[in-house]
Amino acid sequence: MKKRTLAMLMSVCMVFGLLTACTSKEGENSGSPDPSEAVSGAVSASVPVGGTIGVCIYKFDDAFMTTYRTVLEATLKEKGYQVLVVDSNNDQAKQNEQINNFITQKVDALIINPVMTSAADAIIDLVKRADIPTVLINREPTADQMSAYDKLVYVGCDAAQSGTFQGELILDTANKGDINGDGKVSYIMIQGDPENIDAKLRTEYSVKALADAGVEVEQLDIQRGDWDRNRGQEIAQTALAKFGDQIEVIFCNNDDMAIGALQAIQAAGRKVNEDIYLVGVDALDAALDEVQKGNMTGTVLNDANAQVAKAVECMEALLKDGKTYASGEQSVYVDYVKVTPDNVADFMS
Ligand code: BGC
Repeated sequence: MKKRTLAMLMSVCMVFGLLTACTSKEGENSGSPDPSEAVSGAVSASVPVGGTIGVCIYKFDDAFMTTYRTVLEATLKEKGYQVLVVDSNNDQAKQNEQINNFITQKVDALIINPVMTSAADAIIDLVKRADIPTVLINREPTADQMSAYDKLVYVGCDAAQSGTFQGELILDTANKGDINGDGKVSYIMIQGDPENIDAKLRTEYSVKALADAGVEVEQLDIQRGDWDRNRGQEIAQTALAKFGDQIEVIFCNNDDMAIGALQAIQAAGRKVNEDIYLVGVDALDAALDEVQKGNMTGTVLNDANAQVAKAVECMEALLKDGKTYASGEQSVYVDYVKVTPDNVADFMS
């Protein structure tokens, strides 16, 4: 009897041991369909959750998306996922191919920064047919496009808010942007890619904030700089040569173009915050430095850390429950924050 009890106990232990080994193995390996299961198991909360995540970035050569990509990759790896990141080289056809490759490789989830939001229908169609939970980031499709697939979430920011904040940065200056006191604010606008909703709304809402405050505005020029530092420099250089002292404000849809514009401003012998104002968006490290030195009037934090945290949270909710974000919303927004010389130190590492 004693012997039989011992034998039974031993076999129970063996089965339990095997099961435990399987659980931890599945947790460590890629392919666990339910990451929360692996962490909530008896093993330990620090066991990697596993799974393979395919990430497409619209182009690696973009200053803000480089910060975003670095944080995203580190966060996913830290959580135990295997991460495959590809550069779509600003080419939508190439990105569609990359998505197809990820589908063939049977990744567990996708995080996609679309090249063109006008192509979102095709992207959504691909991931829907493959039934892969997907989080779209940074470039927002319409609510109508999003509604085509239920295992799809968008995580980003409300671009109108960043535009409004840029306008407010100018309204907060001593002369509300009217440096020469002629009763109106004369500006040039350096736009990102005009197909992009961030570019459209920042352009519109920055100026709208001034108009809403009763300030007269005059647009001297608007040019597309495609989010690029060199283009920002070239556009500002040409505009400064053409309009000279008439320019009181240079609005840039992002910081990288603002840093380029600053080079042109300095080369033209102008001085930011004395005879011209300059604002960007993103709070790139280089821009924070310039805000602190008084070479940029201000910028607006585009919070990559918070967006990554939400994107991963949404991805895990999709993997776990096949549901959208906990709030039930299909689009999740992170707030922008105004950055001025007064608070810039809070954002510097
Ligand atoms: C950022 C830009 C970036 C663009 C890419 C925007 O939200 O502000 O810096 O180039 O996203 O889509």
